[in-house]
Amino acid sequence: MKKKALITGITGQDGSYLAEFLLKKGHQIYGLTRRTSTVTTERIAHIIDKINLVEGDLMDQHSLTHTIKEIQPDEVYNLAAQSFVPTSFKQPVLTGEATALGVTRMLEALRIAKPDAKFYQASSSEMFGKAREVPQNENTPFCPRSPYGVAKVYGHWITVNYRESYKMFAVSGICFNHESPRRGLEFVTRKISNAVARIKLKKQKHLTLGNLNAKRDWGFAGDYVEAMWLMLQQKQPQDFVIGTGKTHSVKDFIKQAFAVVGIKNWKKYIKTDKKYFRPAEVDLLIADPKKAHKILGWKPKTNFRELVKIMVEADLNREKLI
Ligand code: NAP
Ligand code: GDD
Repeated sequence: MKKKALITGITGQDGSYLAEFLLKKGHQIYGLTRRTSTVTTERIAHIIDKINLVEGDLMDQHSLTHTIKEIQPDEVYNLAAQSFVPTSFKQPVLTGEATALGVTRMLEALRIAKPDAKFYQASSSEMFGKAREVPQNENTPFCPRSPYGVAKVYGHWITVNYRESYKMFAVSGICFNHESPRRGLEFVTRKISNAVARIKLKKQKHLTLGNLNAKRDWGFAGDYVEAMWLMLQQKQPQDFVIGTGKTHSVKDFIKQAFAVVGIKNWKKYIKTDKKYFRPAEVDLLIADPKKAHKILGWKPKTNFRELVKIMVEADLNREKLI
């Protein structure tokens, strides 16, 4: 019998890589999608015939309980969320509904309809916020700096609570930033890789950004989905920090991206605008992923330079075709 996996957020960056990964493991894949007036399955178009899409929404308890009751999944990966930090300042209530309470709705659906399923919650390094220590590990206190970060802290603790209260196999992966050519265009790495490709092809003159000094621990999304799966293969449910252990500034990313297309005087293409600065910023994130190395045997395969190269080259190829 094939294992059944339900992925919420299957149309997102991570959902698409996880679905590919689990298909290779021989899983039967179910993906939760919400009703939209335009197509959102671009990232999973190449595997859509091999997976089953079911309609549901993190805002709607009945659709989640019904989905779990019908499918009876062995593994559930809760990747769906309002995941863009600036939007969380503009729509804090919606972000709380989806990114925080949505986790409780998923856990309730499981508790009622399939309590022995294994549950993965997509927690975030954004929970560390104004980080209390450097680097950040599983014991570092949370100090979120955005409505998104606050919502993720709620999602994290409710997952711990269901594990402790109902003995459910529920775990959190505290993932640091992970990127890819499938990253949404509004996130800084993809905004840069796409603009650098367009500047190289003379389709765009400038790139306007916000805080260039923020530092992030950036890895490749394709590497991180393996860690999610590994967490559900453990005997004991426990939480893990997943990251590379290296940090770079937004400026470093820009320089590296321009270097890929052979442009040295990158400064002349960069402008900044206040509208891209946040009401409160997370200045420095860097993972201490020792626990994941030791217990999961997980290490990232793609380094920073390779990641930037993959992203810029993918955008160059795509832009040449448009
Ligand atoms: P993403 O590309 O923004 O994808 C988000 C997914 O959630 C999309 O499939 C979206 O569906 C779905 N979604 C949003 N609201 C929903 C709702 N109310 N009901 C059902 N589905 C809903 O995010 P990602 O980068 O793949 O990240 C995956 C998860 O990991 C998120 O929870 C994110 O917060 C978390 N995370 C990401 C990172 C990172 O660096 N990427 C790091 C740490 C944690 P539509 O396609 O319909 O919009
Ligand atoms: N998006 C964006 N756009 N960010 C900018 C810009 C810009 O024009 N200019 C500078 N930045 C800075 C932001 O201020 C932030 O410090 C950094 O670039 C990274 O921003 P994002 O790429 O939007 O990612 P994030 O770190 O806020 O959040 C991502 O990572 C989290 C994990 O730490 C998201 O994927 C979250 O969902 C995820 O949980």
